Amino acid sequence: AQGFADDIELAKKSTLNKILERKELRIGLDPGYQPFEMTDKKGNIVGFDIDIAKLLAKSLGVKLTIVNTDFDGIIPALLTDKFDIILSGMTITQSRNTQINFPEPYIVVGQAIILNKRLKDTVHSYKDLNDPKYTVASRIGTTGEMATKRMIPKAKYKSFDKEADGAMDVVNGQADAFVYDLPFGVVFMAQHGEGKAILLDEPFTYEPLGMGIRKGDPDFLNFLNNFVRQIKADGTYDRLHHKWISS
Ligand code: ARG
Repeated sequence: AQGFADDIELAKKSTLNKILERKELRIGLDPGYQPFEMTDKKGNIVGFDIDIAKLLAKSLGVKLTIVNTDFDGIIPALLTDKFDIILSGMTITQSRNTQINFPEPYIVVGQAIILNKRLKDTVHSYKDLNDPKYTVASRIGTTGEMATKRMIPKAKYKSFDKEADGAMDVVNGQADAFVYDLPFGVVFMAQHGEGKAILLDEPFTYEPLGMGIRKGDPDFLNFLNNFVRQIKADGTYDRLHHKWISS
């Protein structure tokens, strides 16, 4: 009987129970990574992750609150309970996974390159950029930055606080290239890149994206794993993918 009582005490501590009691799910994200989270013309935050967050809140029967958080500080914000889940296009990396838990990934992406068009005949992959004469940009605290430093170490690295500013730097002819998740590049090219930049759209890293939660919470991890598995298999994921990513 004592074991059972212990189990109940533990379940009460789960973020899952707290969400149900509070009747509110708090999602932390940084709306700079289109088409996952971005601000529309009316100022609303929309995107692939937002739709997933809405479904998640619906499946729990609670209201959804978006907590706008800078990506560079998003793990500390989760750890200090500013929200319940990071849902912000976050790549599951081994180093992040030592700090937080990830349920199974909801999509796989990889790094791609937005290239200044004057280099279109000289640069064909990240390897060609590995030269001190090139300036390669990305966003601080992201896997784009990590990949640039690790795989293009000889290039001059230029860090930006927002992905859109880094990509615009290429369009404006300052940086030679911007390294970032492929889906961002596809949307950026359609909006600002035409005739000014080219997209090297062969991803050169393997990046599963996942929701981030605090460690030591098997109940919540189990719920989210089953949620992700469900939406991937029942057509929901395909519908959202078509709506935001591959239309
Ligand atoms: N996938 C990349 C990473 O995990 C970029 C994510 C940026 N997300 C955002 N909402 N700005 O580092």
